[in-house]
Amino acid sequence: MEVDRRAFIASLGGTAAVSLMGSEAKADALEHWMEEHLDEQVAATQGTAPQKFPTVAELEAQIETRNFRRGTGGLFASNRGNVTKLPPMPKNPTIQDFFRLRFAPANHVLQSATRALKTGMSEEVILACLLHDCVLNLIKPDHGWWGAQLFEPYIPEKSAFAIRYHQTLRFYADSDAGYEYPDQYYRIFGEDYKPPAHIEAAYKMLRNHKWYMEPRLVTVNDLYAFDPKAVVSIDPFQDIIGRHFKSPKEGLGNDNSPSAHMWRTIANPDQPL
Ligand SMILES: [Fe+2]
Ligand SMILES: [Fe+2]
Repeated sequence: MEVDRRAFIASLGGTAAVSLMGSEAKADALEHWMEEHLDEQVAATQGTAPQKFPTVAELEAQIETRNFRRGTGGLFASNRGNVTKLPPMPKNPTIQDFFRLRFAPANHVLQSATRALKTGMSEEVILACLLHDCVLNLIKPDHGWWGAQLFEPYIPEKSAFAIRYHQTLRFYADSDAGYEYPDQYYRIFGEDYKPPAHIEAAYKMLRNHKWYMEPRLVTVNDLYAFDPKAVVSIDPFQDIIGRHFKSPKEGLGNDNSPSAHMWRTIANPDQPL
């Protein structure tokens, strides 16, 4: 895709901010920018003004312009040419190993969890923010449900609940909590998109649920703006992981948990079957 250099540099805070960034940070920023603008660009080349959000029908018309489906997990497709050979996983991999070797750079979840930590959220919510979108490496549709299932055997019930339902609450504004419907959703789902019945039903259930605020706080901390000055790392979360993530001694994927096969797929996405 064509990159509008001026707009890209402006989105990072100008040339001065860009000159302070390392080459890896620049590459990450570019990748993120391309993800955000891909649909806009496709719409533009089809004769739609870039500022206008696409309709559901316009997005559907793009399906056959790609050789991959939009729901493909990040480990299975690359927007920078060919995929790369993945580094081998250790014998008994931990969640930290997956962050380092499969989810990296994981800027989005690390930035969300950093915001949750700084704003004094509960440890269950901070952990949920840290893990909330990791499953996007495996699969994208219904990622709240897939993500909760992936982590459920190892984390507190409240954190799994927050991961499962953050997906639903992203579609519903709650100005009292400080969450507005994101422009990005007009862009990626279409301006006239209506969430499907299972999302509506989950929202109805959540409105009266005693844990409503857990997934809501994940959406409040769900940052999409790439902040070039933010230095994010998993280190500030080691204690929370230690207290709340029940790491199996055999390693994730080797422990026969209900989601062990999902961890094995993330570890070895090149397996033909
Ligand atoms: Fe999400
Ligand atoms: Fe997110």
